[in-house]
Amino acid sequence: MQKHYDVIIIGSGAAGLTLALHLPKHLQIGLLSKSSLLSHSSTYWAQGGISAVLDEDDHFDDHVRDTLQAGAELCHEDATRYTVESAPELIHWLTELGMPFTRERGEDGERGFHLTREGGHSHRRVIHAEDATGKALQTTLVNRVLQADNVEVIEDAIAVDLITSQKLGESGDNRCLGAYVLERRSGQVYSLSAGATALATGGANKVYLYTSNPDGSSGDGIAMAWRAGCRVANMEFMQFHPTCLYHPDAKSFLISEAVRGEGGKLLLPNGEAFMQRFDERADLAPRDVVARAIDHEMKRLGSDCVYLDISHRSKGFIQSHFPNIYRRCLELGYEMDKEPIPVVPAAHYTCGGVLTNLQARTDIDGLYALGETACTGLHGANRLASNSLLECLAFARAAADDIAIQLSEQPPQPRNLPAWDDSRVTDSDEEVVVTHNWHEVRRLMWNYVGIVRTDKRLARASSRIELLLNEIDEYYGHFKISSDLIELRNLALVAKLIIDSAIKRKESRGLHFTLDYPEALAEASDTLITPQPRRED
Ligand code: FAD
Ligand code: SIN
Repeated sequence: MQKHYDVIIIGSGAAGLTLALHLPKHLQIGLLSKSSLLSHSSTYWAQGGISAVLDEDDHFDDHVRDTLQAGAELCHEDATRYTVESAPELIHWLTELGMPFTRERGEDGERGFHLTREGGHSHRRVIHAEDATGKALQTTLVNRVLQADNVEVIEDAIAVDLITSQKLGESGDNRCLGAYVLERRSGQVYSLSAGATALATGGANKVYLYTSNPDGSSGDGIAMAWRAGCRVANMEFMQFHPTCLYHPDAKSFLISEAVRGEGGKLLLPNGEAFMQRFDERADLAPRDVVARAIDHEMKRLGSDCVYLDISHRSKGFIQSHFPNIYRRCLELGYEMDKEPIPVVPAAHYTCGGVLTNLQARTDIDGLYALGETACTGLHGANRLASNSLLECLAFARAAADDIAIQLSEQPPQPRNLPAWDDSRVTDSDEEVVVTHNWHEVRRLMWNYVGIVRTDKRLARASSRIELLLNEIDEYYGHFKISSDLIELRNLALVAKLIIDSAIKRKESRGLHFTLDYPEALAEASDTLITPQPRRED
């Protein structure tokens, strides 16, 4: 089967949905989600909020400075300034769409937005919807997309690979022509052609054994873009959130940084506060600093976790600011208003990704990358808290403007693309290869490419990932594809991109900390890696 759209958007989190809503209404859009539209994105699970200069005592320059500082001198100032300065307008846009941001009555009796605080921010600047900002955001955007006549939502459809002019052997600049998509229920693969294709598939944090992310964060967009010929940047900067709940039944449950923003303190098992030993900003230091400090203390003491204590705040305060976190902790037997809760760091955010410019364009004509899939230059070596949702919104809008111009100059024509060829594959006879390798990739990344790295650990990871990639490639070449196999193939490739990038960086900067080069070099530079042409090309 084959279908044509003006624009295909692969991914339906904040980035994909925002792009769909900003594109002109005369364009026909196909919006893909590999599972259900509402709850399977990282966006849905976002807690703390969206950073934006909204307080009259706050300034764009301060937000820019905080972002650059957190990013350890590696953020691109143009991308940072563009994002920061877009924020008030985008928050206004969301409010108009009906986003239920939390409000409070100020001293003047007016009900204004409540702004919370998170690590690395010098002001209260994080606008939120209680402690479930992502759920409110995803719901608001999904409701609007479902009302849009020009958007066809295609659920349970996983993009497998991009179709490019180069892959079809055409001469001239490489252009994205569409994508192959696996319909999960029927197992059929069909081709979608489009004038513009946007990758908005989220991050790759599932590459680690412990993560705050939902299952779909397998780096699909980054892997597809790489296979199609795009450069990727700064993949070594994988962000570990300092505080995920430590409990066998609390798979991936995040305790928002806003808990520390509202006075929560990190404690050792003996009750001692320790963050001021590591940074003068103590518990509100940027994430790389806090996660590394926790890792250091856990290893020093041989303890399984540290503790987060906000019990000095009243039950009423905790319940009103963190209703979902309070409820979940209570279900698991912890009373936040009475006792510290156990926490550990977990992989949370992919700072690097597909290299893009300020219009979200990639190296391939007609191909855009947005949100956590992209490396826009905003996050540098460490993302500032709550800058991610903002980046999704800001760059989706920029991409929409650019796509509108491109497609008005060159209106897309439906074109015939080759059908998916599965004539040489059979049904899998050993699914265990997929599950085994899935666990192996994630465990090796956790053990060898985690918060603290060394040359030796990276070399071990590198040789193991090559073996795994060969095995996965061989399996992929012989058996019919499934969504698990697609994700495994992508996850293993992204693991390799992370390892290769980490090996290239001979310094410690932001989230990349190595015992072999503990200092930062005098000059900061991006790690860019370029795909080699494939043998059959
Ligand atoms: P996602 O929201 O992850 O959406 C990706 C979409 O792509 C999904 O719909 C998925 O189904 C689809 N997809 C993936 N691969 C394919 C494929 N091959 N084919 C078809 N579809 C595909 N950031 C903040 O700024 N503030 C916060 O408070 C905050 N809190 C967070 C809390 C948690 C627990 C987590 C996990 C993250 C948090 N973040 C926060 C980070 C932020 O939520 C994400 O970076 C952001 O939501 C990413 O949005 P996205 O649109 O790029 O991707
Ligand atoms: C959180 O609420 O701590 C997550 C915020 C973020 O990842 O930006």
